[in-house]
Amino acid sequence: SLNLTFFFFFPIYIKMQLNQGCDEFTDLSFSHSFIGTSVRVRLLLYTSEGGTCGSLVSHTDPSAHPRFNFSRPTTFLIHGYRPTGSPPKWLSNITKLLLAGTHTNLIIVDWNYGAANVNYLIAARNTHAVAENLTAFVERLEKGLSLSSIHMIGVSLGAHISGFVGANMNGSIGRITALDPAGPLFTGTLPKDRLDPSDAQFVDVLHTDIDALGFRGPLGHIDFYPNGGTDQPGCPNNIFSGLSYFKCDHQRSVYLYMDSISRVCDSRAYPCQSYQDFLNGLCSSCERFGDAGCPVFGYYVTQWKDVLLKLNQTNVYFTTNSASPFCTAQYTVDVTVWNKAVRWGYLTVKLYSADQEAVATIDHTAFTFKRFTETRLLAQFDKDIKSVEKMSLKFSTGSVLQPKYKLRVLRVRLTPLEREERPLCRYDIVAAEDREVTFRPLPCEDSNF
Ligand SMILES: *[C@@H]1O[C@H](CO)[C@@H](O)[C@H](O)[C@H]1NC(C)=O
Ligand SMILES: *[C@@H]1O[C@H](CO)[C@@H](O)[C@H](O)[C@H]1NC(C)=O
Ligand SMILES: *[C@@H]1O[C@H](CO)[C@@H](O)[C@H](O)[C@H]1NC(C)=O
Ligand SMILES: *[C@@H]1O[C@H](CO)[C@@H](O)[C@H](O)[C@H]1NC(C)=O
Ligand SMILES: *[C@@H]1O[C@H](CO)[C@@H](O)[C@H](O)[C@H]1NC(C)=O
Repeated sequence: SLNLTFFFFFPIYIKMQLNQGCDEFTDLSFSHSFIGTSVRVRLLLYTSEGGTCGSLVSHTDPSAHPRFNFSRPTTFLIHGYRPTGSPPKWLSNITKLLLAGTHTNLIIVDWNYGAANVNYLIAARNTHAVAENLTAFVERLEKGLSLSSIHMIGVSLGAHISGFVGANMNGSIGRITALDPAGPLFTGTLPKDRLDPSDAQFVDVLHTDIDALGFRGPLGHIDFYPNGGTDQPGCPNNIFSGLSYFKCDHQRSVYLYMDSISRVCDSRAYPCQSYQDFLNGLCSSCERFGDAGCPVFGYYVTQWKDVLLKLNQTNVYFTTNSASPFCTAQYTVDVTVWNKAVRWGYLTVKLYSADQEAVATIDHTAFTFKRFTETRLLAQFDKDIKSVEKMSLKFSTGSVLQPKYKLRVLRVRLTPLEREERPLCRYDIVAAEDREVTFRPLPCEDSNF
């Protein structure tokens, strides 16, 4: 029976041993946040050699840690407000992803004591104390490594903490990535009281909740506004969904960024005056970026750093799906009709390959279809179909009472925005309202594009 006990308990024993050697993110309860917490800063080091086992680093002597390697780049990940005191749900996944790429000293900044407070005001005020604490640590690091090898990734309030540390270091830190930087109490303040582009050599910002918890205006050299930066697809839009109603859009920034690290797929982002203009297909030009094309959102956007710095500040837009893989595929759909009377309506376009189907519903506005005039629509498909075998169109006016109309299409032309490919065309089809018409598109005739 001794052997049996050994077999039963050995695996558990190993697990306990491993966990005992690891330092974990502070796990607080709601009662902590109800009473309020005061600032403590813990620095948890992760390296690819150490796997998912975190290990505390000394604030005053980082070089004492055997796994801290001064010849490698250093990444800081700084969380935001923690109203319930629990560790962020996404922490372990983003840690794994950041370690899987390049060899880096990954430091998870744990300021849960300080961030856990039912009173957001106090947590927001604590960002300054956390930044002062981190500044002292970065000054220590500076003795052994170059500030340009430091990348700070700040979520929500963490974005402003990164900005304060960056400003204290006179903008010499290599890069700050801000994931939905916090808006409340920071909107309308001076650059010194929030993140701004002078805080690091390169500042890239993602905005996912500009109408609630996030910051509306641009704060970096490049500011990404997925889905316009307001309502993210798949997030509840009524209060009956509980807590996720408040944080889903805000938290989406982290999930989008994680997808970009793992390179599940690429989301190209387009410079534009507004999201509406982008949806209306007015902003598909990427000329200013040269051969590289429009910037791909996320972790690897540093490929565009030089041109973005030259441009000073750029707002870019893209759309996403409601879940991972988040990227959509962009096409322009040009429609010419021969109806005598002007028609207004929406289009749903589907693309089919042998085994896949992609859908784009273009319904943000009613389009005008006028005789012999080309109407350009930007279609965002939920996935990219590489060899289109079939295509379908559905025309709708959204009205139930009116008589059904027909859209008499002289030509429809489908052009991928992100691939150098001959456009596909189809001539002379009739799309009866609310009826899907399916056809096989063919390469357009030369004279037609
Ligand atoms: C930073 O915070 C830690 C723990 O809260 C503390 O031990 C350390 O002395 C602080 N550093 C500075 C420079 O205040
Ligand atoms: C430190 O990192 C460098 C670069 O990745 C590597 O060549 C070196 O072996 C590392 N040193 C240790 C002690 O792991
Ligand atoms: C973490 O990643 C795993 C595997 O990709 C996934 O199943 C899980 O849902 C993720 N967890 C969170 C909280 O996102
Ligand atoms: C930043 O600039 C100030 C004023 O010029 C200087 O006192 C300080 O030492 C500088 N700090 C760093 C980290 O370079
Ligand atoms: C670049 O941006 C800064 C502040 O963001 C502004 O002061 C400056 O005038 C801008 N320069 C150009 C060339 O637009």
